[in-house]
Amino acid sequence: MKKLFSGVKPTGKIHLGNYLGALKNWVDLQSKYDCIYSIVDMHALTIDIHPDELRDNSLKLAIDLLALGIDPKKSLLFRQSDVVGHTELAWIFNCLTPVSELERMTQFKDEASKKTGNINAGLLTYPVLQAADILLYRAETVPVGEDQLQHLELTRIIARKFNNRYQRYFPESKPIISPARRVMSLKYPDKKMSKSHGEASYIAIRDDEVTITKKIKKAVTDEQGILNLLELYSYFGQKEKYEEMMVLHKSNKLMSLQLKEELTKAVLEFLKPVQEKIAYYEDNESKVEKILRNGAKKAQRQADQTMAQVKQIVGLK
Ligand code: TYM
Repeated sequence: MKKLFSGVKPTGKIHLGNYLGALKNWVDLQSKYDCIYSIVDMHALTIDIHPDELRDNSLKLAIDLLALGIDPKKSLLFRQSDVVGHTELAWIFNCLTPVSELERMTQFKDEASKKTGNINAGLLTYPVLQAADILLYRAETVPVGEDQLQHLELTRIIARKFNNRYQRYFPESKPIISPARRVMSLKYPDKKMSKSHGEASYIAIRDDEVTITKKIKKAVTDEQGILNLLELYSYFGQKEKYEEMMVLHKSNKLMSLQLKEELTKAVLEFLKPVQEKIAYYEDNESKVEKILRNGAKKAQRQADQTMAQVKQIVGLK
């Protein structure tokens, strides 16, 4: 089976954008690929985050991923910092990556423009660590949302640079994009759903019924907003009802209140069993820790193999 890698940052709550844009694919692709999934906690250090919060977020994220359907019998799941090799390979890649390539990254420019103080070097070299995450396992396939396509393009550039300078060793990893390539914000319908635009802009998978009902009720309903809500409904609701509401919308007869009520119902129905599983894993944290330890152990074996070969190739051995 082909190898697949993907990662998610433990910087806050998982929302429906993460789920529909990437994590649903993570779950669905488990029987088709040799899957390696990582909670990329070292990437989270590029933002200001309290150590306790980072630790807590990482465990919660592992719980969320298991509750959404990541199956440790099929896939490896581990914390990035538990495997030695990610940063080591990133250093080797740093020495191959032109600064100009890093400076043109949209995510870097966005993050840098938000900062008032110093812009840390980690923010700039973030995509190099991401390339190392993927290539440490020589993964050919990477399921991500649209916002990560540029980073994947850079991963291919880095692989090519390595292969040209030394010898053909790394694959040129290709993205897999889900139909929901860019899920939009409830509050700012022209922006992607994101943790950084405030609570009201996203639905977290851990949000309770009252919160979800309130967030959808308050969602902006300009033309773009309605289309976004309809799109969300298409993923969680019933096909016939979706088509009915689409017809109504096209003839200007769709009541936004009806759409919001239907969407709330559909999202709550989807999240109910997920939240039950979250509660189960919250009560069984030692099981989750064990899954992460096991995942890291197996990932480490693969990482060691790659690093031994890479060191040989570049002359560090
Ligand atoms: P992160 O943690 O921001 O997001 C995790 C995944 O969710 C997708 N996503 C979305 N998809 C559609 N619509 C949205 N509104 C939306 N918001 C988030 C992201 O595209 C991503 O796939 N740099 C990565 C983490 C990373 C990684 C890697 C990914 C580190 N190393 C190696 C793949 C391979 C990130 O910040 O994702």
